[in-house]
Amino acid sequence: MRVTIFGTGYVGLVTGACLAEMGNHVVCVDIDTAKVERLKRGEIPIFEPGLEAIVRRNHVSGLLDFTTDAAPAIAHGEVIFIAVGTPPDEDGSADLQYVLAVAGTIGRHLDRYAVIVNKSTVPVGTADRVREAVAAELAARRAAIEFDVVSNPEFLKEGAAVDDCLRPDRIIVGASGARAVAVLRKLYAPFNRNHDRMVVMDERSAELTKYAANAMLATKISFMNEIANIAERVGADVELVRQGIGSDPRIGYHFIYPGAGYGGSCFPKDVQALERTAHSHGYEARLLGAVEAVNRQQKTKLFELISHHFNGELAGRTIALWGLAFKPNTDDMREASSRQLMEALWNAGAKVRAFDPEAREETHRLYGDRDDLVLCERASDALQGADVLAVVTEWKAFRSPDFAGIRAALAEPVIFDGRNLYEPATVEEAGLAYYGIGRGRSL
Ligand code: UGA
Repeated sequence: MRVTIFGTGYVGLVTGACLAEMGNHVVCVDIDTAKVERLKRGEIPIFEPGLEAIVRRNHVSGLLDFTTDAAPAIAHGEVIFIAVGTPPDEDGSADLQYVLAVAGTIGRHLDRYAVIVNKSTVPVGTADRVREAVAAELAARRAAIEFDVVSNPEFLKEGAAVDDCLRPDRIIVGASGARAVAVLRKLYAPFNRNHDRMVVMDERSAELTKYAANAMLATKISFMNEIANIAERVGADVELVRQGIGSDPRIGYHFIYPGAGYGGSCFPKDVQALERTAHSHGYEARLLGAVEAVNRQQKTKLFELISHHFNGELAGRTIALWGLAFKPNTDDMREASSRQLMEALWNAGAKVRAFDPEAREETHRLYGDRDDLVLCERASDALQGADVLAVVTEWKAFRSPDFAGIRAALAEPVIFDGRNLYEPATVEEAGLAYYGIGRGRSL
């Protein structure tokens, strides 16, 4: 099929590459000329396992192309995806200006029936607004062209996006017309073998499904972080509690890992946006507010532990940091807990020596050259000359470290484990003091 995708961010690029991989002719449109040029050369602006290979392969074979020219791209697509950003505006609502601008552009150039698919995470009711924006432009041209607008939210996880896209566990299609559903059924047929993963519903339910999924996952994390905070006060070990409750299939083992708070471009933004949506419809979503508040507090946790350890005297101290990205297998620093920690340490006069397998460049882009930040090439380099070690991201490479080496390198043998990667007993046997999240030693 012929597919057009507006936006070459995470969602657009991964969706475009995966659709091309299945043999569709895909054109990706972006207003950023430099980015489009880089993509044409096969350079991927983000770190995402497996993405570069399928982008290059399909670009070379002619199935995947990039352009800044919207008009021919709109003429190309039977299915036109909108996958541009919806950043939060000042009050936390999703800012729809980019989505609606693309809808207007489509309306100005559409010359025959097409299915317009909202892939961006957008507030409930956006499909209607996109439909109105397209229709207004068509009316201005007196063009009697039919189109459908479908809500088809994505459920990609950064770091596993290609796999999630090629092997989705559900394909949510919010559409009111049988014609549009038939087009999407055909497009998604190669992703939908063995058993039917397509769940067809109305547009508003599809839009809410996306927010509900992320809000539920964020709720599980904040819930566990709250239990961790209770655990350390009552002298319990949250890791045992986690295993104890996870065995109930109604609760499950997934997404109940306590830690230094959730980050990324989705959870913080989507929980806030859903809260705003509820508010604007006259409902106060108290649970969502609490999920967010617990997370905000949890992101200060590592700093509090470190500061407490040094009796608040951090000036002149050097903290080794393992992990900068908001989670493993990405270089994404958006809302990363490491940022909160570094900024608090700097404000208190401490220095940071940090290592991350992928996010060093991005960290440098964000913070530039500064005396109180050294970005190290190896995990062991970050320890040299540091007082203590804090682990902020749960990269696999940090799971089985050489504790004796850590002890020898640090001025004070202490590990602050922001992701509960280690067993306190193992660390303590190696001669290091251990602070985790919800595991005994507390403030
Ligand atoms: C999230 C959802 O998991 C995807 O399903 C969704 O498609 C995506 O948002 C989106 O809306 O685009 P992502 O932001 O890539 O994906 O990250 P997650 O893997 O969900 O992790 C989010 C954060 O939660 C990370 O900071 C992670 O360290 C933290 N986390 C995760 C915990 O603290 N505990 C857990 O048990 C799990």
